[in-house]
Amino acid sequence: MSKALDGVKILDFTHVQSGPTCTQLLAWFGADVIKVERPGVGDATRKQLVDVEGADSLYFTMLNHNKRSITLNTKNEKGKEVLERLVKTCDVLVENFAPGALDRMGFSWERIQEINPRMIMASVKGFGPGPYEDCKVYENVAQCAGGSASTTGFLDGPPVVTGAQIGDSGTGLHLALGIMTALFHRERTGKGQKVLAPMQDGVLNLCRVKLRDQQRLKAGPLKEYSQFGEGIPFGEATPRAGNDSGGGQPGRILKCKGWETDPNAYTYFITQAAVWEKICDVIGEPEWKTKAGYATPPERLDKLNEIFERIEQWTMTKSKFEVMEICNPLDIPVGPILSMKEIAEDEGLRKTGTVVEVDHPERGPYLTVGSPIKFSGMDVEVKRSPLLGEHTAEILKDVLGYSEEEVEELKSTGVTDVVKKIAAE
Ligand code: COA
Repeated sequence: MSKALDGVKILDFTHVQSGPTCTQLLAWFGADVIKVERPGVGDATRKQLVDVEGADSLYFTMLNHNKRSITLNTKNEKGKEVLERLVKTCDVLVENFAPGALDRMGFSWERIQEINPRMIMASVKGFGPGPYEDCKVYENVAQCAGGSASTTGFLDGPPVVTGAQIGDSGTGLHLALGIMTALFHRERTGKGQKVLAPMQDGVLNLCRVKLRDQQRLKAGPLKEYSQFGEGIPFGEATPRAGNDSGGGQPGRILKCKGWETDPNAYTYFITQAAVWEKICDVIGEPEWKTKAGYATPPERLDKLNEIFERIEQWTMTKSKFEVMEICNPLDIPVGPILSMKEIAEDEGLRKTGTVVEVDHPERGPYLTVGSPIKFSGMDVEVKRSPLLGEHTAEILKDVLGYSEEEVEELKSTGVTDVVKKIAAE
């Protein structure tokens, strides 16, 4: 089956998480992603959080599927020549170096346009233009600077970062969309362009409901926040809202049977207005359907603690899956808190290709997350990540037209390096 991005060549100069997430998506969808790595070293994540001695880490393998790896010293003159040929040949250059690194290497945007006017140059940086544009940035810095941390956690505690990698993987997703848009534009104009996805901006984009609430504060307290019902006054900024729902339908995380010993025996429960009467019947409070102070959503806003405590008395008598089984047929929106162990073992996610087992010559089988986007006209197959420099010779010869002798010379001078032999796969 053909892939949507067949024929698109990506010069993948990314490392760590944000950039690799983006190029992994493009590789899944059929692009030829050529990952350029430093000889002998490679992407730093290859050797970070190592769990199997001598093997590429899960951090690396889970972010670099379906790619090819070439090692190249791009600070060496011969290496720069190879890089220049790659820039000439490829459609998109993706990078997430610290600000200025590509210019220092001699590949400014102006130079890249001279070499290949059709080239799309796509970058992740921590911040956009402004006072912080030269800063190096990692995930949690972006979560903090993008407004997420100040609005996550509980009112009486410090700001909290989330486990979802909205700064890195979130920005990688934004960049992938930017690249696809620029490729589509190039179809009409014949010209490439520069695409920038700053991590702060990406996080803020995902936190837009909190900027919504910042502006709503001018009109009075945010009545759907628990602190309203608790009589706690609002300050000048959108507060931390614990597990309150971010929308107009109040929700909470509630204990389920077994919570005393199982840290994930909880459910999310939403008291959607449309199913209020059904909720009242399920929890054994049928009189709340018509009782003054309980019957309509605005009346309930100052009683959310009491209401959720009552619902929790009921959820504590059921497992999180029983809550789902009872509420789902009644259209009451609930969701079990699934642990990573439960997700790893989830048959449904395996069937849809969202959790995939991949074999690797150095580490054996491991689990990864497959494409979360599904297509009716294209399969997305997950292939193992490349070993460091595994495709150096084939890329030099087949993509760039180097002869066998020239490849040997590049190897012998350390511009590229000799690739590990892969034991029988
Ligand atoms: N050959 C020779 N040199 C190479 C090379 C190659 N193939 N690949 C990279 N390098 C060099 C770069 O030119 C740079 O050198 P310079 O600083 O002398 O110019 C150096 O390696 C490393 O680049 P840098 O990006 O500064 O790495 P770092 O480990 O110090 O910083 C980050 C890591 C993530 C903090 C930084 O890259 C960054 O802020 N990136 C943008 C934001 C981002 O994506 N953050 C999230 C990461 S998940």
